[in-house]
Parts: sequence; C-alpha cells; structure tokens
Amino acid sequence: MKYLVANFKANLGENEINQWIEEFTKEKPADNDQLQVVICPSFLHLFKFKNLVSNSQVKLGAQDLSLYPQGAYTGEISAQALKEQKVEFVILGHSERRRYFKENNEMVLEKVKRALNSSITPIVCLDKDNFKQQIDLLNQTPATSNQQLIYAYEPLEAIGTGEPENPAAAANIISQIKNLTKSPVLYGGSVDENNAGLFLKQTVIDGLLVATASLKASNLHKICQSLHE
Ligand code: PGA
Repeated sequence: MKYLVANFKANLGENEINQWIEEFTKEKPADNDQLQVVICPSFLHLFKFKNLVSNSQVKLGAQDLSLYPQGAYTGEISAQALKEQKVEFVILGHSERRRYFKENNEMVLEKVKRALNSSITPIVCLDKDNFKQQIDLLNQTPATSNQQLIYAYEPLEAIGTGEPENPAAAANIISQIKNLTKSPVLYGGSVDENNAGLFLKQTVIDGLLVATASLKASNLHKICQSLHE
C-alpha cells in the first residue's frame, strides 16, 4: 500500500477550493487498494470534502489539531471536532509548525495522543537531523508505542524549494528510519508530477507528502497515475 497525502497548507480560497473539487471529481483516482489518497485542506474547508470522501476511497486529513480536548481553549480545534468532520488522518509536527509555532517533540507527542484517542491516524513529520529523537520519544511512550502511526521524512531544504532530495538518498534515510519503526514512512519535499514516480519506485518509500504540486487537482491525478508506471 502506498499513501499519497496532499497538504494544501494555508492556500486556496473558497472559489479555488470549489474549482479544485470540481476538477478532481471529474476524474477521481480509480479505486485502487494499493493507493490511499488523503486530502488535507485548511480547517475551514474540511466540510466541503464530505461528499468526495463518502463517494470514494479518498480520505480526509487535517493539518494540525489542538493539544487540548474540547473545552475552553479559544481558537482551537479539537480532535473530537475533527473526527465529526470525517477526518481520519492528521499531519503533526510539520517543520512549519515547529518553526513558526514553536512546536517541540513533547507537544507533538501530546497531539499524537489526542489524535489516537479520537481514532485519527497521525502522520508525524520527521527531519533529517532529529528523526531518531523524534521517533524514540513516541516509541518509549506506552500510549503511542505500537499504535498505528505514519511517518513522513521531510528534509528541510527540499520543502517548497523545487529541489527534491535525490530519490536514492531519500530511500537511504528512510531505510535508517525503518530500523527504528515498523510504521510506514513517506517522503515529502518538492514532489511533483514529474518526479513522483522516481520516489514511488523506491520500494522502501511508502508514499508521498505533497504540498505545492497538490494545489492543482490535475497534478494530483498525474501523481496518482505515476504509481502505475
Ligand atoms: P512541497 O511541501 O511539496 O511544497 O515541497 C512539502 C511539505 O511541506 O510537506
């Protein structure tokens, strides 16, 4: 099974989202038990994907969730609220969250617990220099060890730069990550419709986390197709 996770970040306004859904729905990826597509729009647009996800194998993901449960936490969005919106996956510990919102490994751990408590699968982002510490913490915590998680290896210099890591080098790091975990490990960083196939050919890579290229529905389709090439 390969995963293809589309992270829209804080992109796409209402009209653009409507167009994206229209375009994507015209040509939904053929149902394929070898591919799990997960779309992660902004919180505000999650509800717009309800029809899409109930009529196909495409699943819905969030880009973050609250450290806290439902309650008096102004401005936050809880795991429970996301689950009600049919969210089945959540990206946690993305390098942008760590950089701009000062998230650390302990906060990511708490968020992973929140997700698991609401039966949402965490997609935990790892970077090249810290993946061992990041995974050790999750492995050593009884509430998160042996749980169903997904990791995404995202070298900082490849994110949003148009300069992906060399697929063989990414496969090499992912093999090292796999010595520490049995969870699937994705690659993310400047993946597009032209290079996705090169990453997917590396058998150790369990899928892709794609941001910029996913903003065009037609590109996401092309990336899905590259699984068959
Ligand atoms: P990118 O971003 O695809 O635009 O490089 C990847 C990510 O931030 O997950």
